[in-house]
Amino acid sequence: MNNMKISVAKGDGIGPEIMDAVLRIFEAAEVPLTYEFVEMGKDYFLQGFSSGMTPQAKESIESNGILFKGPMETPKGKGMKSINVTARKTWSTYANRRHFQTLHGVETVHSKAGIPIDITIVRENIEDTYGGIEHMNSHDVAISRRFITRPGSEQVHRFAFEMARKEGFKKVACGHKANIMKLTDGLFLETFYEVAKDYPEIEAYDIIVDDLCMKLVSMPDRFDVVVLPNLQGDIVSDLCAGLVGGLGFAPSANVGDVISIFEAVHGTAPDIAGKNIANPTSLLLSGMMMLRHLGMSAKAATIENALRYTLEQGVHTGDFGDKNIASVNTTQFADAIIANLGQVPTETKPREATEQKKMWEKPEFPAQRKMMVSPREAVERLIGSDLFIDSALPVEKVAEIVQAQLPAKFKLLMISNRGTQVWPTGSILTECVNHHRCRVILANDSDSASTDEVWEYIKAISSKLFVTSMEMLRNFGEKQGYSMAQGQ
Ligand code: NAI
Repeated sequence: MNNMKISVAKGDGIGPEIMDAVLRIFEAAEVPLTYEFVEMGKDYFLQGFSSGMTPQAKESIESNGILFKGPMETPKGKGMKSINVTARKTWSTYANRRHFQTLHGVETVHSKAGIPIDITIVRENIEDTYGGIEHMNSHDVAISRRFITRPGSEQVHRFAFEMARKEGFKKVACGHKANIMKLTDGLFLETFYEVAKDYPEIEAYDIIVDDLCMKLVSMPDRFDVVVLPNLQGDIVSDLCAGLVGGLGFAPSANVGDVISIFEAVHGTAPDIAGKNIANPTSLLLSGMMMLRHLGMSAKAATIENALRYTLEQGVHTGDFGDKNIASVNTTQFADAIIANLGQVPTETKPREATEQKKMWEKPEFPAQRKMMVSPREAVERLIGSDLFIDSALPVEKVAEIVQAQLPAKFKLLMISNRGTQVWPTGSILTECVNHHRCRVILANDSDSASTDEVWEYIKAISSKLFVTSMEMLRNFGEKQGYSMAQGQ
C-alpha cells in the first residue's frame, strides 16, 4: 500500500525540535505516512509572503488536505494577521477539537484528589469576534462585530454530534451566553437543539458559560463533550488545559470538509527555543488525533500506550513531573517513548489497538467556493434603523435634532448609550459616552418601510449630526431581528 502523503510545517521557536521528536516516534512506530515539508511561519512573513506561507506551501496543503504543524510566530506590530487564525479561516476548518485528559505522571490538583478528567472541547473556529472586524466609531469608542451564523453553527454542532456518535460519547453540552447575547448566542443555541434532533441517542443539554467554568473547575469529571462559540471556546479550552497540567498536554485538531490542521495548543516558547528541552507531548497527542482522523487508530493506540507507559515510569521534561526525578531533554523523552513502543500503561486503561475499517480519503476539491444559505422561511419586513451617532451633546438635544429631521412616517423610539436606554426615560445616573444609538421605527406598525425611505432620513440626520454607522431593523416573521436595550 502507498503511504498517505501529508504536509508538514515544522514552525518557529521550539517547533522544529518537537516536530523532529514526534516524527522520529512516528518512524519508529512505522506510521505509513510520507511528509511533504512546507514553508510557513515567521521567516516567510519576513521574506515578504503576506500570508506567512509560500505559494508552494499553499498548493501542497490544498493538494494533500492534511497539515501537521508546529507552533508559529506572527511578527508583531507590522499589521500582519496571525498565520494560525488565517490558516484556520482560509481553509474553513470550522471545528476546533481539543482533548484534555488526565495523564499519569502529570500531577495536577485534580489528579492528586483522584478526580479523573477526560473532556473534549469543540470550539467553533471561524466566526464570532474572530472575524476581527473592528472600527473606531468615535475617538472614544471602539466597536467589534460579532458574527454567529446559522450555517456556521450547524457545521460545528453537526461535527460534535457526529464525533459523539462515532466515538461513543453519550452526552453533548452546548456552552453559551444566550441569556445576554440573545440573538448571536441565541442562534448558536437554537441551531444546537435543531441539529441534536438528528441524534436522538445522544443526550443534548446546554449550560451558560460562566456556570460551565465554575463546574469545570469544581467537578470536571461530569463533562465529556462541550461545544462552544469561538471566543468562549478559546477561553474554556485553556481553562481545561490548566486542569490537566497546562498547554504542554493539550492537543488540537482544526477540522474542515476539505482540509484539516493538527497542531499543539501551545505557542513557540521563545524562552526555551533551541535548547532541546521542550515537551513534545502536546504535538505528539495532536499527531495521534491526526492518525485517528486518517483511520490509523491502531498506530495511534500503540504510540499513546507507549507515551502513557513512559509517563508512568516518571520520565518527564523540565516543565512537569516529579521534581525528585531528574528531567530529560526533548530527544531523550522521544527516545524513551520509542523504547517503550509495544508497552501498555498499567495504572490506567490502555488504548485498544483496533484499526479503523476505513482509511481517510482525500475529499473532492470543490470547483467553486461554497455558498452556505439556509432556506428563508419567514416573511422579512423592514421597520426602521438603529443609527449610531458620535456626539457629546446631551441626549435630550440629540433626540430633539433627530426628531426634527424625521418624516411623519417614522418616530424616534429610544436612545441608548452603551446598551442602556437613556431617552425618553432612564436614570440620570447612567453615565454616557459620545456614542448614541438612536432607534428609529415606523410610527404606525402596520405600515411598511422601504430602504430608500430609511436612507432618506439618514441623509437628513447626517446633515446635522455625525452618523458613524447604522443597522437596518427587520422582523423575520414573528421574530424581532434586533435586541432590546437594557431598560427598554
Ligand atoms: P507559549 O505557549 O509559546 O509559551 C508560554 C509558556 O509556556 C512559556 O514559558 C513556554 O516556555 C512554555 N511552553 C510552551 N510550550 C511548551 C512546551 N512544549 N514545553 C515546555 N514549555 C512550554 O505562549 P506565548 O509565549 O504567549 O507565545 C509565544 C509565541 O507563540 C507568540 O508569537 C504567539 O503568537 C505564538 N503562538 C502560536 C500558536 C500556534 O502556532 N498555534 C499558539 C499560541 C501562541
